[in-house]
Amino acid sequence: MVNYKELGLVNTREMFKKAVAGGYAIPAFNFNTMEQMQAIVQAAVETKSPVIMQVSKGARNYANGTILRNLAKGAVEYAKELGCEKPEIVLHLDHGDSFELCKDCIDNGFSSVMIDGSSLPYEDNIALTKKVVEYAHQFDVTVEAELGVLAGVEDEVVAEESHYTKPEEVIDFATRTGCDSLAISIGTSHGAYKFKPEQCTRDPKTGKLVPPPLAFDVLHEIENKLPGFPIVLHGSSSVPQDEVDTINKYGGNLPDAVGIPEEQLREASKSAVCKINIDSDSRLAMTAAIRKYLAEHPDHFDPRQYLKPARENMKKMYIHKIVNVLGSDGKLG
Ligand code: G3H
Ligand code: 13P
Ligand code: ZN
Repeated sequence: MVNYKELGLVNTREMFKKAVAGGYAIPAFNFNTMEQMQAIVQAAVETKSPVIMQVSKGARNYANGTILRNLAKGAVEYAKELGCEKPEIVLHLDHGDSFELCKDCIDNGFSSVMIDGSSLPYEDNIALTKKVVEYAHQFDVTVEAELGVLAGVEDEVVAEESHYTKPEEVIDFATRTGCDSLAISIGTSHGAYKFKPEQCTRDPKTGKLVPPPLAFDVLHEIENKLPGFPIVLHGSSSVPQDEVDTINKYGGNLPDAVGIPEEQLREASKSAVCKINIDSDSRLAMTAAIRKYLAEHPDHFDPRQYLKPARENMKKMYIHKIVNVLGSDGKLG
C-alpha cells in the first residue's frame, strides 16, 4: 500500500473549492510518456498553476502502473527542482471502469480516481460510485463520477450519440453517492473528431468546420441545482487547426478534425466547471512536431532529437491552455 501523501501528491478537494470560488478551472492533462510528464510539470511550474496528471486504463496498459506512479512521484520532485516550493499535483485515474481498478490505484499512490459508471443504468451507476467513494474516502482520496454520456469513444465504451446530463438527476446522484465532483455531458466528446461535418457549418474563408455550441443552458441548470459543486468537462480538446495542418502537410491524414472552441471553454471555466480534461491536443502537438522534424531531418534517428521539439510543442500548448483558456495561472498556494 502506497498512500499518495508519501509521494507529495494532493487530492482535488481544496483545489476544486478554490477553483469554483475563483472562476477558473484546473487543467487535467493525460499522460503516457516521460516527455508528456516533463512538459506538464514545466508548464505548471512556469505558470504557478495547480495541475492534475491523469492516467487512463489504456495508459496503465501501455506504460505500466508502477512506472506511471513513479513518474508522478518524479513530477513532484522535478517541480521542486525547477523552483516550485509547494507543487500542487494530483495523480488521477481517468475513466476507471471497475471498483477493482479504482481500488488498485487508491492502494498504489493515486490521490484521485474517476469511476465512470455513465454507461450503466442509473441505479447501477449510483451503487458502483458509492462503493468506490466509501473505499476512497477512508484514504482521503477524492472521487469523480459521471452522469450523462458523451458521444464518441470513452475508452472501450462507445456512445453513438451524446445524452446530456439530466439536471433533475444531479442532486439525487451527488447526495446518494457522496462523490466529490461530477463529470457532465453538455456536448463535448472525446478525440479529434468531436462533431460530424453535418453537425457543423463551414467557415466560408477557410473551409474549416465550425462546431455547434455547448449546451450552456444544461450546465447552468446543473449549477443551480448543486450550487458550488465541482463540475468536470471531459472531451475538451480544441483540436488546434495549425497542428492539424502541420500533421497533414507532413504526411498525416486528419481530414475535418474538429474540437471545442477555446472561448467556450474559457466561459465554462468561469462557472462551476473546475476541471477540464485535455488529451487529444497533447497528442496532436506531439505528432505535429515529430512529423515536421522527421520530414525536415530525414537523416536523424536519435529519438532525443525529435522528442525534444515534441516536448517543447506540448509545453507551449499546456501553457496556452493554463493562461489563456482555463485561467489557473498564479493560483498555487
Ligand atoms: O478519455 C479518454 C482519454 O483521452 C484517454 O484515452 O484511453 O486512449 O488513453 P486512452
Ligand atoms: P479529449 O479527447 O478532448 O482531449 O478529452 C480527453 C478526456 O476527456 C480524458 O478523459
Ligand atoms: Zn474523458
